Amino acid sequence: MLKNLLEKARDLDAQDPIKAYRDEYYMPKDGGRDIYYFCGNSLGLQPKKAQLYIQEALDAWAQMGVEGHVKGSRPWKPYHHFLTGPSARIAGAKEHEVVVMNTLTTNLHLLMASFYRPTKSRYKIIMEGGAFPSDQYAVESQVKLHGFAPEDAIVEIHPEPGLQNLTTAQIQKVIEAHGKETALVFFGGVNYYTGQWFDLKAITEAAHKAGAYAGFDLAHAAGNLPMELHDWNVDFAAWCSYKYLNAGPGGPSGVFIHERHGNNAELPRFAGWWGHDEAERFQMKKGFKPMEGAGGWQLSNAQIFSFAAHLASLELFDEVGMAALRKKSILLTGFLEECLDALNESGIKIDTITPKNPEHRGCQLSLFVDRKKGKVLHQQLRKHNIITDWREPNVIRLAPVPMYNKFEEVHYFAKTLLEINREI
Ligand SMILES: Cc1ncc(COP(=O)(O)O)c(C=O)c1O
Repeated sequence: MLKNLLEKARDLDAQDPIKAYRDEYYMPKDGGRDIYYFCGNSLGLQPKKAQLYIQEALDAWAQMGVEGHVKGSRPWKPYHHFLTGPSARIAGAKEHEVVVMNTLTTNLHLLMASFYRPTKSRYKIIMEGGAFPSDQYAVESQVKLHGFAPEDAIVEIHPEPGLQNLTTAQIQKVIEAHGKETALVFFGGVNYYTGQWFDLKAITEAAHKAGAYAGFDLAHAAGNLPMELHDWNVDFAAWCSYKYLNAGPGGPSGVFIHERHGNNAELPRFAGWWGHDEAERFQMKKGFKPMEGAGGWQLSNAQIFSFAAHLASLELFDEVGMAALRKKSILLTGFLEECLDALNESGIKIDTITPKNPEHRGCQLSLFVDRKKGKVLHQQLRKHNIITDWREPNVIRLAPVPMYNKFEEVHYFAKTLLEINREI
């Protein structure tokens, strides 16, 4: 019974070892009333420290002008370095394998410029069916850029009939089947629609066995799931910082390039002055000499204000650690599932298309609903101060986020769903 779960929610909140971190964020309000925010999978909440860090950069600019590049407590010239340590810990990487720059889709193109080097016989890209549209467009345009037809060069893997998710065995089989023709295996870490967390290590192994590179869009994985990109031998990855990483709308993107590639100055890439050897960058010499590591893919000098917000957020991740976040996340999303099961017992059938096994998902659950009724449901939730998101054609996504969500909020969500369902 859902009613009985309220006490459990309160107990879990009381025992939560990281509950204090909620106070580090602004919780949205509407007309003075609390909002129940479950949209950290789309846009994470604002760390209170973000304003302070942005203000610090604004003050430095106001007081020092151009000298802010080299003076002050956090000079702008090396600013990206402040982000690499915490980003590397999020990615499970060595510091020189990670850099923060640009935005996500831009970086995916830059990475494909280096890692999608098709030949006449090896030109295919294998990806998950139903990848985020920007990934689909990026891949299609890359394939066309090299003179191939997307229908032939892109292999999408869709779930077997009757299933909602892919299995690792199925992915491995497809990679093996197209092995000789495959240049790149490119997957989302967590699928944006279903919430499925893929086995990056197994996919990477299968790609390498086939002689292809393995790259990942980790927009829905970074800050959501602990990762070991270095040990998993991933070739490259990129993520955005505005979802689970809470760096604000349009926030910058993180990039991972395994050190076996990062230190290869011969690897083709699009170059810019910020990727040039730091020690010589301002000598303004002809001839690009890339920095070792992911930093050698940088094009432009840092976007300080958005980096400042990102830094404020990353510091909190460093304090809490991904292990503690994941521990709470499994409990929190598991509790959401338990509440939905209780609704099912009350005769309200809520289907999810996210894997049941916590090993194959992060924070998010995707509720699969009838399109018309589901849209009304989504709007009704908002009227009850609950923010989730709607994804065409059939999904309400919600992600209780361990950094700032409470178990009792999850219970409120389920209780409200029960009430609304009676009304519509
Ligand atoms: C999985 C995924 N990839 C790519 C993007 C696009 O990101 P950006 O607009 O920062 O390039 C998004 C945005 O939500 C996303 O969810």
